[in-house]
Amino acid sequence: MAKSKTVFYCKECGYETTKWMGQCPGCKQWDTFVEEPVAKKTIYSNTGIKYPEPELLSEVTTTQEERINTGIGEFDRVLGGGIVTGSLVLVGGDPGIGKSTLLLQMCRELSAKGHKILYISGEESLKQIKLRAERLGKFEGELLLLSETNLDRIDDTIQKLSPEVVIIDSIQTMFKEEIGAAPGSVSQVRETTGTLMRIGKGLGISIFIVGHVTKEGVVAGPRVLEHMVDTVLYFEGDNSASYRILRAVKNRFGSTNEIGVFEMRNEGLAEVSNPSEYMLQGKPEGEPGSVVAASLEGTRTILVEVQALICQTNFNMPRRTAAGTDYNRVNLLMAVIEKRLGVHMSGMDAYINVAGGMRIYEPALDLAIVLAILSSYKNKELDSKTICFGEVGLTGEVRAVNMPEQRALEAAKLGYETCILPQVNKETIKNPKIKLIGIRNIREILNLLK
Ligand code: TYD
Ligand code: MG
Repeated sequence: MAKSKTVFYCKECGYETTKWMGQCPGCKQWDTFVEEPVAKKTIYSNTGIKYPEPELLSEVTTTQEERINTGIGEFDRVLGGGIVTGSLVLVGGDPGIGKSTLLLQMCRELSAKGHKILYISGEESLKQIKLRAERLGKFEGELLLLSETNLDRIDDTIQKLSPEVVIIDSIQTMFKEEIGAAPGSVSQVRETTGTLMRIGKGLGISIFIVGHVTKEGVVAGPRVLEHMVDTVLYFEGDNSASYRILRAVKNRFGSTNEIGVFEMRNEGLAEVSNPSEYMLQGKPEGEPGSVVAASLEGTRTILVEVQALICQTNFNMPRRTAAGTDYNRVNLLMAVIEKRLGVHMSGMDAYINVAGGMRIYEPALDLAIVLAILSSYKNKELDSKTICFGEVGLTGEVRAVNMPEQRALEAAKLGYETCILPQVNKETIKNPKIKLIGIRNIREILNLLK
């Protein structure tokens, strides 16, 4: 009997080879190859789409692309001002983070405005979707639901109904019969996305695809299809914290600098239009070791509280932890403090925490970490109406960061009175609404602690 032909795919990036390999030459990940049957060439005659003819560049009209507002401001912001007709959007994220909830809420808003929406779930029965919908509140419009995983049947349904927006939840459950591989395999995920792309572009339907991020198992991750879609959004957050961030990592119709902030409540996702206030909830007043920093997420300034607890160690090796920021960076900053300020850090345990569950890896947070460490070490608090930002170099110099004015303005808006920032940045701010203290070296900050 002839052996059925198989190939190996990288389940991270979709790289294809005939032999198994330990490391993927495409994405350099280890142990990501899975064996799958060769994908049969599919014929797309049944999609009923006309082949386009070449057109002259000079004759192509550039009417503004049409956009539909989702009715969720934070979502529109990330999409670049609404859903573009005919666009293919991937919404990725860990299982349970709230992708289905977000999209169902979007469907509610859109259908209430009279748009024709089709929500296709391959993961949940209609009953389960109904239960979730009941949790979210009243659905006024007409929303069409379908529980189906066979893409050919989905294709027929879409052609028949021609809705304006289709949700596919999730791509890892969808399959085409003519491809021998299991749902969720690289070839299935690629082929089904390809078909959806042709349907969407051909009929001018906007399609949202849900993709689970997977670390293990044989299910293909969303990276396999990132290059095929127009927009890639990732929904992130901590399971322990209730806030969620929607981030665009690729967007053919808008900026990738925008983020949307949501809070997961009992009755669904609520928009957080002022993330700073949200992040600073419950901040202690006048406590040593607590400092507010102005950090940037995309183009948005978010004020966060950085906490440090420094105490004498009981171990041979001092313990250090960093929650919400880079552990190595914290170690480096402690070494800088030890060497440049002569503060004895090597015998100290240090626990650093960015409160609120945010994760911030921006160097602009350095100054806040240094201040928090020194404040806790000296047991002296920083004035509670003060914020700071700035990068700290190895000689203890405080270096400029981007968008200083915006950071200072956000702080002023929230009632902060003083801003500690790099001297170079201070000179560029024309109209501060807040008192600025420019510093050149971390040596100068010792005087700022009461
Ligand atoms: P879900 O949208 O099913 O996640 P995903 O589609 O990304 O896998 O969200 C599931 C989680 O959200 C679940 O743990 C329960 C929680 N949740 C709420 O807290 N409030 C709600 O109103 C809903 C619908 C879900
Ligand atoms: Mg889901």
